[in-house]
Amino acid sequence: MTGHVYVARLLTDDAMDELRGFGRPVVAGEERPPTRDELLRDAAGADALVCTLTEPVDATVLDAAGAQLRVVANVAVGYDNVDVAAARARGVVVTNTPGVLDDATADLTLGLILAAARRIPEGDRFLRRGTPWIWGPRMMTGLDLSAGATLGIVGYGRIGRAVARRARGFGLRLLVTPTRSRVWDADADGVRFAELDDLLAESDVVTLHVPLTPGTRHLIDDEALARMRPTALLVNTARGGVVDTDALVRALQEKRLAGAALDVFEDEPAVDPRLLALEQVVLTPHLGSAGDRTRSAMCLLAVRNVAAVLAGEPPLTPV
Ligand code: DGY
Repeated sequence: MTGHVYVARLLTDDAMDELRGFGRPVVAGEERPPTRDELLRDAAGADALVCTLTEPVDATVLDAAGAQLRVVANVAVGYDNVDVAAARARGVVVTNTPGVLDDATADLTLGLILAAARRIPEGDRFLRRGTPWIWGPRMMTGLDLSAGATLGIVGYGRIGRAVARRARGFGLRLLVTPTRSRVWDADADGVRFAELDDLLAESDVVTLHVPLTPGTRHLIDDEALARMRPTALLVNTARGGVVDTDALVRALQEKRLAGAALDVFEDEPAVDPRLLALEQVVLTPHLGSAGDRTRSAMCLLAVRNVAAVLAGEPPLTPV
């Protein structure tokens, strides 16, 4: 087939309906990710490719698609799965889905911060195991967020700022890494900018909101973890590769770090078994944007980017 829109994974119903309304042939994958062979086969001849973070779209895929390919629309704000330089070199527009998932991701981040600080999953497992218990002054205590604890936000973009808005309500002190984009008044409120090393040393909870790039891969390594307080918690809802898993496991096992809450993993969907064995680690399966309306908004934005490019108009959200 040629001239089709290839959707590598089934999108939400509203987005699939909108896409089918374009009057172009649509080749749609399934809910599961396509195999590499399926990706190469179904991309061949496509004018547009809608993909998710589970599809590596590299030069081989772009070449398999062919010279007529005009747009790669990623259903995610992060686009480390797409070789943007290779796409540009072939005149292919790449788009992502910024803005529509900030609140959902920030909500999950706060959930993870609370879960790790107040040991919620640990308490849940404790009860499910049928452990005998009775309330006691020393029982299962954790970090008080409202007692002047400091939250270090690494990456003060849209999602980092949405986290800060929520954190203010908990009375957390806010430290954030410097950003190149303009920080408007409300987002600057109560925020102290600090270089990463200082932020790591001064924070009770460190939360990561940077994209995965060659510059941020293993940003949190042995050296960074050594700067953190032994009582501190690390939260990652960004990309697994931002944290060196081996270094994190070492720090947790040796009690140089009190705990972690992770929504993303270096080798997704695999989760390092050493993390599974640690009681002080909270784990979720990449749920940052997994709100019903948010997923729908992401899928619709990707589809509208395709519509714009195929109509010869500027994409709504180019990377
Ligand atoms: C993103 O958008 O980059 C998330 O990781 C998936 O929602």
